Amino acid sequence: MSQGCRIAVFASGNGSNFQALLEASREGRLGGGEIVLLVCDKPNAFVVERARQAGVETYLFRPKEYARREDYEAEIAARLTELEIDLVALAGYMRLLTPVLVSPYAGRMLNIHPSLLPAFPGTDAIGQAWNYGVKITGVTVHLVDEGMDTGTIVAQEAVTVEPGEDVDSLTARIHQVEQRLYPQVVKQFAEGRVRVNGRKVELG
Ligand code: GAR
Repeated sequence: MSQGCRIAVFASGNGSNFQALLEASREGRLGGGEIVLLVCDKPNAFVVERARQAGVETYLFRPKEYARREDYEAEIAARLTELEIDLVALAGYMRLLTPVLVSPYAGRMLNIHPSLLPAFPGTDAIGQAWNYGVKITGVTVHLVDEGMDTGTIVAQEAVTVEPGEDVDSLTARIHQVEQRLYPQVVKQFAEGRVRVNGRKVELG
């Protein structure tokens, strides 16, 4: 993957991580990685507007129009193949994946999650951690499998909950860490500097 790594980002919402990856790519901070496709399941999501403004091709689909997840995933997989995608980065894509997409991209599909996994998987991880009252939370980048945020952990960064801060402040600080950490990890993948051995990952 060291020469011109072609990346597809999957997102469902605001797209701040998509934007961070895009800017890193344009500024040469993705180690030759290039964002060539956005895949989105929510036609009204703001990330679609971000992609339009940036001139990035967008693959939009409506899951309700398909009988099974495997059906829309097969169409997405075909587009990824046509575009010769090397690496998939999930960035707020709020759907579980089946082997139709996971298998061909085993070891080449990343997700970012706003907690220190395996704590607080699933939706609203920041709110879950906040309500639990943890003193330390953070961000995880992991490989994707069929489970809910269960794949092999690639990178983590801790965020300490400051005394007296509210959940909005914590959320903003976690997002800042995400937008810095994800491009760094994607760069390492794009440069082929990641060795995966079961649940153990070595970077560098
Ligand atoms: C991010 O905080 C990301 O970690 C989270 O969704 C948010 C998307 O924000 N993903 C998950 O919770 C995955 N389980 P964004 O659309 O602004 O990038």
